[in-house]
Amino acid sequence: MIKKLMTAAALLAMAGAASAATLYTTGVLDFNKTTKGSYLGKIGAAVPVTVLKKQGNLSYVRISGWTLAEYPSMIFAEPGVRIEYGSFDEESAVKTNPKAGEKVVQENKWVKATAEGWVQSAKLTNNLNKLWQQGKSRHAEACSMCHAAPKADHFTANQWASVLPAKGGRTGHTRAGANAVMFKYLQAHAKK
Ligand code: HEC
Repeated sequence: MIKKLMTAAALLAMAGAASAATLYTTGVLDFNKTTKGSYLGKIGAAVPVTVLKKQGNLSYVRISGWTLAEYPSMIFAEPGVRIEYGSFDEESAVKTNPKAGEKVVQENKWVKATAEGWVQSAKLTNNLNKLWQQGKSRHAEACSMCHAAPKADHFTANQWASVLPAKGGRTGHTRAGANAVMFKYLQAHAKK
């Protein structure tokens, strides 16, 4: 109980401290090394980013999460959970920081990691609730065309990643395009 209260207090403190600089991506965004380009990879929708600096209509942001020690080309929200934050062509884009955290999940070693790059400022928002509302209505729309939409908490975040694959799913079963925010909404509100 005490531990739970402390966690809640710590989360509140973090939310307070970070609120000035933490924004969320409104869709899947290109992530570039310089303001002129030099493509590093993509960051997903509804991903928290810290804005470090701005230039013109661009923001230089940091994303923080976890990566597989053996295959550090993607960053995820948590070790062993397929909530994807970023996917990088340039492996050097991902900076691992084992001192900040390491964890073994199902025999895979995960380490804390960050990536920094430029994105379009107009594609960032401080209103995460609005993104979730958007995901929720898309879910109601996009699935009910064919069958009743299973509720978000019907599956775990990892199960949603299988139901809505990045490629090669059944028609309608995709996380791509207009479904990107919806997919993150489903994972964020999934069964724990
Ligand atoms: C183009 C039609 C279509 C759309 C749109 C669609 N589905 Fe389906 N879905 C199907 C069919 C067909 C089945 C198989 C039905 C069956 O087995 O009875 C299915 C089955 C499922 C299943 C059962 C498990 C599985 O993978 O077979 C889940 C879960 C599911 N759909 C989720 C969704 C969600 C979430 C959406 C909205 C993003 C969605 N579907 C949109 C056609 C669709």
